[in-house]
Formats: sequence, C-alpha cells, structure tokens
Amino acid sequence: MTFDRKIKIAPSILSADFADFGREIQAIEAQGADWVHVDVMDGHFVPNLTFGPPAVSAFRRHVKTFMDVHLMIAPVDPYIEAYAKAGADLITAHVEAGPHIHRTLQAIKAQGVKAGVSLNPGTPLSSIEHVLDLIDMVLIMTVNPGFGGQQFIASGLEKIRACRRMIGDRPIHIQIDGGITPETAPLVAAAGADVLVAGSAVFKGGSVANPEVYGANIRAIRAAAESALG
Ligand code: DX5
Ligand code: ZN
Repeated sequence: MTFDRKIKIAPSILSADFADFGREIQAIEAQGADWVHVDVMDGHFVPNLTFGPPAVSAFRRHVKTFMDVHLMIAPVDPYIEAYAKAGADLITAHVEAGPHIHRTLQAIKAQGVKAGVSLNPGTPLSSIEHVLDLIDMVLIMTVNPGFGGQQFIASGLEKIRACRRMIGDRPIHIQIDGGITPETAPLVAAAGADVLVAGSAVFKGGSVANPEVYGANIRAIRAAAESALG
C-alpha cells in the first residue's frame, strides 16, 4: 500500500454483531470502509476480553482491504508472531504495555508487517520520540482503551497537533481511536489525523440486513473530516 494522508475510515468491529463477523466485515467494506480495525483485549492491560489469534485469522478470510490489529495486551511480545501469522497487515502495540517498546516494534517489523505504536490519553508524546524510524503509524487514543461508545477526550487534540509536527515529512500515519463521530472527526482531521477509527458511530442503527446505514454513517464521518481540510 502506498503512503498518503487522505482520510481513511477504519470501522472497529468491536461494535459489530459478535455472532456474524464474516458478514459484518463484508458489509462495512462494501459500504466504504478503508481499513478494518480489530481490537484485541486481554482483561489485564484493559478491563475487557476479546479476540485471540484464531479469531483474527477467521476475520482475515473476509477482509479484502487492510486489517489493522490494535493490541491492548501486556505482555505483548510473546504474541506478536501469532497475530502476524493470523494475517494482520499492521500491528499496533501500546507504549505502556511493557518496558521495551523499541524491542517490541523491532519484533513487529521482523514479522514483515507494518508497525504502529499507541499512546493512552495520559501518556506523553515524548515516549515515542526515539522510535519514529521504526514505525508506520502512531495511534493516539482519545478514550481510555477497553470499551466502545465512550466520550471523546478533547486533550487529545493538542497531542495530535504536536505529533503531526514531530513526524514532519516521515511517512507515518496518525490514527485516532475513541469517540470519533461526525462531530469530533473534523477536529481530529484539522489537527493532523488521517486514519479515523470508529466503532459505535459506524455500526449504530445498521445491521447486515440493513447495511446502507453503515454506508451513510461512514460517509458522514468522512465528509465531516474532509470538510475540515478545505
Ligand atoms: C477502545 C477501542 C476502540 C473502540 C472505539 O478501547 O480501541 O477501537 O472500539 O469505539 P468507539 O468508536 O465507539 O469509541
Ligand atoms: Zn482500537
């Protein structure tokens, strides 16, 4: 995939019907999703539990676009290979999940997949200053990770602006996750984000039987974000 800063919408399947992931993934892709965002939670780093590698491998069979795997697990290093083999195109690890983020990112790159690094709302940007040459994406959390449907934390906007300045001309995506809606999308896009994760705002009101709602929701988020870019 060639690098660009066009707005990309990455629906989080954490808000999909858990009994019907295959058709949910097909529906969001048919309705305009650019990436598919998979939230992996361990009940330890975050207070919720989701998908092991076999589940992610099953999702992969349905993903035609780009599968972005957000690991909210600690420790993370022992599981990188399994999630890469499950078919992730990009693996994101949290800087708070262990003492050696540089080693973690090296391990992700060694699997031949793209590498992302994520920051919780309370974590300073300076924590990733020295790993920029290893990464393809920074994920700035605008909620405390663990659940969909939480309220956007606005202090993330200044962090996005500072991150955009910090990465300069490097081909590094800025992804935002948490509380993205047509109301908050223009704020994060104007601040410098290009990949917008949205769970509840994409899936609300729709279903695999009524997927046009997903399309309308995706278009509303994208249009709001693009309107902020002029
Ligand atoms: C939160 C997850 C998110 C979540 C976003 O821990 O990382 O990806 O699904 O959900 P919304 O868009 O509903 O805030
Ligand atoms: Zn996520």
